[in-house]
Amino acid sequence: MNISVVGTGYVGLVTGTCFAEMGNYVICVDVNEDKINKLNNGIIPIYEPGLERIVIENNKADRLIFSTDIKNALEKTDICFIAVGTPMGEDGSADLQYVLAVAEEIGKHITKHTYIINKSTVPVGTADKVRETVSRVLQERGADISFDVISNPEFLKEGAAVNDFMKPDRVVVGADNERALDVMRELYAPFTVNHERFIAMDVRSSEMTKYAANSMLATKISFMNEIANICELVGADVNKVRVGIGSDSRIGYSFIYPGCGYGGSCFPKDVQALVRTANKNGYEPKLLEAVEAVNYDQKKSIPRKIFKKFGEDLSGMTFAVWGLSFKPETDDMRDAASITIVKELVAKGAKVKAYDPKAFHEAQTCYLKDVEGIEYLDSKYTALTGCDAMILVTEWKEFRSPDFDEIKKRLKNPVIFDGRNQYSSKKLHEMGFEYFQIGVMPK
Ligand code: NAI
Repeated sequence: MNISVVGTGYVGLVTGTCFAEMGNYVICVDVNEDKINKLNNGIIPIYEPGLERIVIENNKADRLIFSTDIKNALEKTDICFIAVGTPMGEDGSADLQYVLAVAEEIGKHITKHTYIINKSTVPVGTADKVRETVSRVLQERGADISFDVISNPEFLKEGAAVNDFMKPDRVVVGADNERALDVMRELYAPFTVNHERFIAMDVRSSEMTKYAANSMLATKISFMNEIANICELVGADVNKVRVGIGSDSRIGYSFIYPGCGYGGSCFPKDVQALVRTANKNGYEPKLLEAVEAVNYDQKKSIPRKIFKKFGEDLSGMTFAVWGLSFKPETDDMRDAASITIVKELVAKGAKVKAYDPKAFHEAQTCYLKDVEGIEYLDSKYTALTGCDAMILVTEWKEFRSPDFDEIKKRLKNPVIFDGRNQYSSKKLHEMGFEYFQIGVMPK
């Protein structure tokens, strides 16, 4: 099949590359020339495990093309995915300007029947807006060209995106006619083979499914963080409580890890957007509002523990931060807990020495670029030298079983604040560390 993917970010690049890997001809389009130039020179603009090899191989095989020319892409293809960003707008709703800008371009340039597929996470009713936009522009052109608008939300996880796309738990497709559904079934057949993982539904339910899924996951996290905060106060250990409840198959172990708050490009904005959708329809979603409020507060849990230990004036103190990305195996820092933590500490006069295996560039050029008092080190151990305490923010594999003797030797004080409950408190206490976790009363 001939496919264009408009928006070559975390989702668009993975989507385009995986379709090319299955033998399709794919043109990935982006307005960001620098990104397209890099891709044409074999440089992958994001860090995503396993992606580089298949991008380069498919590009060399001329099955995967990178371009800024949407007109040419639409002329050569008859399936067009929209995979641009839908960031949080000023009032918390999803900002649809990029999606609708692409719809305008599609209206301007299609020359034959085109299947237009919303892969971006978009509020219920967006497919109608895309349809209206394309129809209006076609009318302005005086062109009589048919098209379908299909909803196909993406469920990949950054850090495991290629694997998730190649072996999806499910492929959700919302369409209003059988012909469109058949095209989507054919397109996804190599990914859903041997399993009934293709879930067809109406467009609005499909749009809603993505928000419901992300809100459910965010709810589990905020629920567990709230339980953790209560555990801390009453002397229970959330690590044990987690195992105790996770063993109930109705609850399960996934997404009940306490921590210093969820971040990333999806949960925060998608929960907010669903709240706004509900508000606009006259409903106040009290549970979802609480999920966000708990998370906002949870990002301050580590700074609160630090203030309790060292006081509110941190001038003259330096803290080592391990991990900046919002989760391991990605360089994505959008809404990462590290941003709140670093800013809170610096605001109280502290300095920060940070180490992250992949997110330096994002931190330095974007998310922490205006923060003074942060230094970026090239290894987890050098970041510790002379620091008053270490803070674990992102549970990258290389942080899981570090050399604690080395940590102790380099820190001024043997104090660890762990935002992801990665270590054995027994071992650390035996070694003479003061060890602060989420959801455990400090000893
Ligand atoms: P991103 O910000 O990484 O990429 C978006 C890309 O679209 C950028 O490269 C930008 O330059 C490009 N773009 C913007 N306007 C354009 C236009 N008019 N024409 C061509 N390109 C244009 O965003 P990301 O993370 O890939 O997310 C895309 C969508 O997928 C969002 O709606 C997001 O909520 C959703 N999503 C994201 C997931 C993730 O893990 N990042 C997972 C599932 C869904």
